[in-house]
Amino acid sequence: MKVLVIGSGGREHAIIWKLSQSRVVDRIYCAPGNAGISEIAECIEVESKNLSAFVDFVKYEWIDLTVVGPEEPLAKGIVDLFLKEGRKIIGPTKAGAQIEGSKVFAKEFMKRYKIPTAKYQVFNSYKHAEEYIRLKGAPIVIKADGLAAGKGVFIAKTHDEAMDALKLIMKEKLFGPAGDRVVIEEYLQGQEVSYLVFTDGKTIVPMVTSKDHKRLLDNDEGPNTGGMGTFSPNPIITPELEKEILETVIQPTIMGLRAEGIIYKGILYAGLMIVNGKPYVLEFNCRFGDPETQVILPRLETDIIDIFMSISEQRLSKVNVKWKDGASLCVILASHGYPGTYKKGIPISGLEMVKRLKDVMVFHSGTGFDEEGKIVTDGGRVLGITALGEDLKDARNKVYNAIELIHFDGMQYRKDIGLTI
Ligand code: AMP
Ligand code: GLY
Repeated sequence: MKVLVIGSGGREHAIIWKLSQSRVVDRIYCAPGNAGISEIAECIEVESKNLSAFVDFVKYEWIDLTVVGPEEPLAKGIVDLFLKEGRKIIGPTKAGAQIEGSKVFAKEFMKRYKIPTAKYQVFNSYKHAEEYIRLKGAPIVIKADGLAAGKGVFIAKTHDEAMDALKLIMKEKLFGPAGDRVVIEEYLQGQEVSYLVFTDGKTIVPMVTSKDHKRLLDNDEGPNTGGMGTFSPNPIITPELEKEILETVIQPTIMGLRAEGIIYKGILYAGLMIVNGKPYVLEFNCRFGDPETQVILPRLETDIIDIFMSISEQRLSKVNVKWKDGASLCVILASHGYPGTYKKGIPISGLEMVKRLKDVMVFHSGTGFDEEGKIVTDGGRVLGITALGEDLKDARNKVYNAIELIHFDGMQYRKDIGLTI
């Protein structure tokens, strides 16, 4: 089989790493990919603004299956386009992707189906939003409606911070039309968990649980990022809590979408806050998480192609999905300055040494080649060092020992992933 993966980060590297172990996959392409991905897949340039260029590519290369990493092509309707052309692709249609693509859609959907989430109001008038913030006071959470590359959420601790966030989104249009509307919601305090499932629109197959660490610095301090580290399993999710998440969040979501004529196929990711033992949805994503995927897929035993094909053909109930016991952990090595501005093109050393370590995987997030063909930094998040272990402590030790071997100027990372749960 020939498979195309769309995307360029650590998540896509992990998907491709898993695909490369499939007994039926003999060729993998990635558009556009990165330096690490190019070791196991053929990286290609496709004009990504033009979704039909992907259709042309899969027709020309006789690609059997396409897997979409990031949300943007899904929100723009890449799946609808592929299905119209009779091509297999993993991910929801444009209508299904609204669950991530519009926070307003997601909140109103949750209200319709009584899915637990923070109390909120939607505003398209700056003046009314300002009045609401004054009325409610801080802490309060301000969210741009549309996609904002993971940067559209502001947790305001003070009234002034809330006003600043509102101005950035609605007046200065930091995220363009994504900020035409805002969701303003109550601040929830609790423990965050990432809960991902495979679904073919009928059957739901949970993945192993995980936890992301969104803040830049140890002890959850500093600004929000795309994710600085993950581990799996997330011990907070007991079997009882998992049952509750499935019954109050995941099943009503898939069924609610179906009731509205949307057969949601692909990956559903619920970002949850556990407050007093109860799950509340912070956000839905219509794709794999990054860096959750880097800890989830190394624990998957089943051939991932069996899962993808059964999603595409709506026979997921027939697949026996198996996971490895033990644990996995991933720490992101980021560029100096991330999540703000950072330099690119900085040489990375030590990658060859880490390759020899048992149970350790390096998933590249933002890397490229210099003129001499050496691997250099090419993004804010650069590498995700991942290990499998008997338990979280074992996985953590393996990851931090491997990090000792890797260096690039300005490298920053959290030291506390897996230390406290
Ligand atoms: P989102 O993209 O909506 O998940 O928001 C990004 C991050 O902001 C989440 O992972 C949480 O850490 C935080 N967050 C979002 N909504 C809330 C909320 N209502 N209360 C507290 N923290 C939140
Ligand atoms: N790790 C957070 C995300 O993928 O959205």
